[in-house]
Amino acid sequence: MAKDHHQPHSFTKKLLPWTLYTILPIAIFRCYFYPLQFPHSSTDELSLNTPIIITSSSSSSPSFTSSSLSKEGEIRADEPPCDYTNGNWVHDKIGPLYNGTTCGTIKEGQNCITHGRPDFDYLYWRWKPKECKLPRFDPNTFLELLRNKHLAFVGDSMARNQLESLLCILSTVSAPNLVYRNGEDNKFRKWNFASHNFNISVYWSPFLVDGVEKSNTGPNYNKLYLDRIDEKWGADLDRIDMTVLSVGHWFLHPAVYFDGDSVLGCHACDGLNHTEIGFYDALRKALKTTLKTMTERRGSSDKVLDMFVTTFSPAHFEGEWDKAGACSKTKPYKEGEKVLEGMDAEMRNLEVEEVDLAKENAKQFKGMRLETLDVTKLSLMRPDGHPGPYMYPNPFANGIKERVQNDCVHWCLPGPVDTWNQILLEIIKRWEGQSRKRE
Ligand SMILES: *[C@@H]1O[C@H](CO)[C@@H](O)[C@H](O)[C@H]1NC(C)=O
Ligand SMILES: *[C@@H]1O[C@H](CO)[C@@H](O)[C@H](O)[C@H]1NC(C)=O
Ligand SMILES: *[C@@H]1O[C@H](CO)[C@@H](O)[C@H](O)[C@H]1NC(C)=O
Repeated sequence: MAKDHHQPHSFTKKLLPWTLYTILPIAIFRCYFYPLQFPHSSTDELSLNTPIIITSSSSSSPSFTSSSLSKEGEIRADEPPCDYTNGNWVHDKIGPLYNGTTCGTIKEGQNCITHGRPDFDYLYWRWKPKECKLPRFDPNTFLELLRNKHLAFVGDSMARNQLESLLCILSTVSAPNLVYRNGEDNKFRKWNFASHNFNISVYWSPFLVDGVEKSNTGPNYNKLYLDRIDEKWGADLDRIDMTVLSVGHWFLHPAVYFDGDSVLGCHACDGLNHTEIGFYDALRKALKTTLKTMTERRGSSDKVLDMFVTTFSPAHFEGEWDKAGACSKTKPYKEGEKVLEGMDAEMRNLEVEEVDLAKENAKQFKGMRLETLDVTKLSLMRPDGHPGPYMYPNPFANGIKERVQNDCVHWCLPGPVDTWNQILLEIIKRWEGQSRKRE
């Protein structure tokens, strides 16, 4: 099954990304970077101030004070931090944290259950890290820890995927209100959980740094200004307590890279007379600029900024992107069955490296905490978690067609992304324990 992925030579590793962009561009372009190319009914989008439908339970969550948290041993400051990176997916009878058919906030293309995905086994898996336990997500704990705070997801459609998972989980105990929305396809939104004066928002910023996205009317390549962050989110940084950054896939596109006014080079830019420099260095520079700017702006502030970088989320196109069966697996890979390598590994590694460098740099400040949300491996092991053809409702209602679009990049909700948020909560709990110990 995984035999075609065992490519030990570094040559092959280097080659893989290049091969990928000859195979993937159409899929990438049509399928997931341009959601606007898929007109979907506006009924799936909430209108301003519409309360989100709650799946279950009361909106008045049991009051969960900080002291009761520690009494229950929820927050453990003394244990060494868990390595969530390596582990195994184990079958789990309990099932998802929310019911996707009633959650109200899921982007149409990721709402696999309502779109008629016939198999449900993909909902019954739990990530088991090698050396520790990943507890089931407790929404009340999360809301309590983020009381009076503003959490912002910043990045591309993966950031949105993760945000919607979290919103769905939290909606099971408290009703969020959409208090702001702006931009095509609701690219900028903010919700308020009145129960905890907690705000959660999403900022569309597929490069984190300033940039101009390619379009049908403008140049068919992206322009990235690697020396400055995108102020569409940067300007709000003062009002943010915690950010989750998530980028990667948009860097694969044709692009020209700038440092100030000068062109550094480009990627997949035939005919532009710039030097091809690949996208890895561009992503690295973009992250460096972002983490450095955030540290400069917030490091000395009294208000702590918590920062996460979600690592690269692998795609699972295993056949032609527009044929049935592009990602048709219905079970996770077993441990050792799938090796993290090639572009997925390179993207993840450089993200981890940049966060580690920024962590070192942040040590001199008291106003910054940052961590990698290392989800690449655990996500790689979930070829079964993508919408595939169920990005559209009932794709096979009239039999199997010659061509069918597949989304093998984003994740069904509920689905594996819920685990990313479980890990997010565990790290926040650990931080809380540490800061309480210091007090
Ligand atoms: C989700 O909830 C709805 C309404 O309560 C119910 O009809 C449906 O069967 C549930 N779906 C799943 C997968 O649990
Ligand atoms: C949450 O958002 C509301 C509405 O924009 C604002 O009035 C409030 O101060 C925000 N609270 C926090 C904790 O950011
Ligand atoms: C491409 O760039 C080189 C070096 O800057 C320059 O000499 C050449 O004239 C350029 N070619 C075109 C077609 O612009």
